[in-house]
Amino acid sequence: MHKNFKNIDKIVYGKGAFNQIDDILAAKRDENDKFMVFIVDKYFEGKELADRIPAHAEDMVFFEDIDQYEPTTDQVDNLRDKILAEKGVPAGIIGIGGGSIMDIAKALSLMVTNEGSSQLYQGLNLVKKAGVYHMGVPTVAGTGAECSMTAVLTGPVKKLGLKCDWTVFNQAVLDPELLSTVDTNQWFYTGMDCYIHCIEAESGLYFNAYSKAYGDQALALCREVYLGENAGQNLENDEKLMIASLFGGLSLTYSEVGACHALSYGLSKILGTRHGYANCLAFYHLEEFYGDAVNEFKSMIEKHNVDLPQGLSKEWSEETIDAMAEVAYNLPHMWNHAIGLDWKEKWTKEDIKKLYRRL
Ligand SMILES: [Fe+2]
Repeated sequence: MHKNFKNIDKIVYGKGAFNQIDDILAAKRDENDKFMVFIVDKYFEGKELADRIPAHAEDMVFFEDIDQYEPTTDQVDNLRDKILAEKGVPAGIIGIGGGSIMDIAKALSLMVTNEGSSQLYQGLNLVKKAGVYHMGVPTVAGTGAECSMTAVLTGPVKKLGLKCDWTVFNQAVLDPELLSTVDTNQWFYTGMDCYIHCIEAESGLYFNAYSKAYGDQALALCREVYLGENAGQNLENDEKLMIASLFGGLSLTYSEVGACHALSYGLSKILGTRHGYANCLAFYHLEEFYGDAVNEFKSMIEKHNVDLPQGLSKEWSEETIDAMAEVAYNLPHMWNHAIGLDWKEKWTKEDIKKLYRRL
């Protein structure tokens, strides 16, 4: 069976695109109980961007703290309950922030029309009813969350996406100027999420011409941004990174992630480590999976003087490593891609624990 991929309905891209949001929303404001919900990274509270959010009097604006942990099913359930209790079903939901905010906005758009906890819908095609209109406005680039079919949430049992056609944004607003305030470490870790998506997509069973076409472009852009003559944080590179993120996400949509994301999910689920950073911690030690790309990644770290601690596993108990390996092992689609459909004959939880001990 081939994937039947649902793309974003509409995309506006370019400097200052943020200023078009109010016009775009105008056509949707009459739906449901006629108000919009803005979910914004708490980082922007009190900052210039917060004043530019085109919220009308009837709208709700939530500044969500996602600094420490990945978004959770509880967080989404609580937001949903509050919105429904206070104002009813929104006309639309707009997420302004990084990958975590994208995930919350996507999940929330589904949960305002579907009953019960979001935990019930973690998986493929479990959502019963279409959600409400939703828009993604990324302020960091690399996660690909602006185009993915999943809203990744961490629940009490698993870190897994709500994945269905209705999850995909109706509108993405890609304004490279919004990337200008990202700090260097975050710029690096999140951009590397894109780089790693492309490398993982091309290193496995599900790779194909669709995935390669987008992945090659995204990798070329990442190399210009992180290793090129004009490498570093500037508007020209922000324009490139925003498109790299989108294309990396599209490459991935038609392929799959592998060992690095499996380990990364274990780190996030058990220790709450942020996604992009967790990927970097793992990717550094996965030469047998990703070969020269790991050396290229190391040269990017060096060039930008990024913090990437080593020896972390010395502080982890056997129990912690075991728990992380359990999470990673239970992502068969990633191991199918990375190792092959017979991966269970070649690969054990013990092997995964050995990888964690390298970190
Ligand atoms: Fe990722």
